[in-house]
Amino acid sequence: MASGGNINILAIESSCDETSAAVIQNGKVLSNHIATQKVHERFGGVVPELASRAHMQNIVPVVEAAINDSGLGKHDFNAVAFTQSPGLLGSLLVGACFAKSFAQASSIPLIAVHHMQAHVLAHFIESAPEFPFLCLTVSGGHTQIVLCRDHLDMEVLGETIDDAAGEAFDKVAKMLGLPYPGGPLVDKLAALGDPLKFKFPLSEMKDYQFSFSGLKTSVMYFLQAQKKIDPEFVANNLNDICASVQYTIIKMLMTKLQKAAKELKIKHIGIAGGVSANSGLRKALQEAGAKNGWTVYIPKFEYCTDNAAMIGITGYYKFLKGAFTDLSANPSARATWI
Ligand code: KG4
Ligand code: ZN
Repeated sequence: MASGGNINILAIESSCDETSAAVIQNGKVLSNHIATQKVHERFGGVVPELASRAHMQNIVPVVEAAINDSGLGKHDFNAVAFTQSPGLLGSLLVGACFAKSFAQASSIPLIAVHHMQAHVLAHFIESAPEFPFLCLTVSGGHTQIVLCRDHLDMEVLGETIDDAAGEAFDKVAKMLGLPYPGGPLVDKLAALGDPLKFKFPLSEMKDYQFSFSGLKTSVMYFLQAQKKIDPEFVANNLNDICASVQYTIIKMLMTKLQKAAKELKIKHIGIAGGVSANSGLRKALQEAGAKNGWTVYIPKFEYCTDNAAMIGITGYYKFLKGAFTDLSANPSARATWI
């Protein structure tokens, strides 16, 4: 190891269908490479076995690209950080095995990272939110309101009891005949539609919990009924349906976020995860911020969806605390906050 007094971390993310590697030096991103797996598109969703195989093909070239791009050599690292949980087990295993091998071959420590904690800490890549900080983390698998007291001191205040917000976007998109992942497409079409054209029910959950499965069902019955009247209903109303569904999802998210901010008296508020790339949600957060006197934090697009830079920044804070893991650490599809 020859890091010249710097803290250099190699980070690996492989929890779902993105193979990503990043190099972080003293908490700053030197490189961040992402290989998106196109193989799932024709199946309308991620196929776990195909995801693992694609990770195996991608991992070496992606890591090589990240290291070359960083200007460092492969002997310059002080630690390897990898996504340990949650995610698809086969996918996680590929990243974990690579990280363990790299750590062992280089005689450097290994750092296990929780994917959802990393989504929150993506905010610290280019800014430094003040604590206490409240983060709405919205992805394909999770919807959480997280209270952050410090970088590694976080508490999930509430989460979805069924589908995640990203899942709701993707499932509605599928009903509309849009390709996977539908979230970004719904966002694009929603910008051209009327958000108040169709009304869908808002779930009323207790505390800071969310529920999106009712929305999915109501959109399904609504479309079935409308198609009986007009078989071309979806084609004729696509933008308005997207805008109305997006409006409903954002309303449910923002209602709970505002409730949490008010009750906890916190004014530093952010959004994170794949759905934080949504233009309607980004705008809604800006507007709520202006109304409530919040300082808002919105990640750059490349740090919203899955990426290894966020694993690296989390690895950096864990490195500072000496929070290493041993080589026997296994990945886990589900795990409570690490
Ligand atoms: O965080 P992420 O990349 O992966 C997980 O950890 O799940 O999030 C992926 C999710 C998908 O459901 C995708 O449709 C959604 O984020 N997403 C969006 C947008 N971009 C990505 N949803 C709505 N609008 C977007 N612009
Ligand atoms: Zn994610």
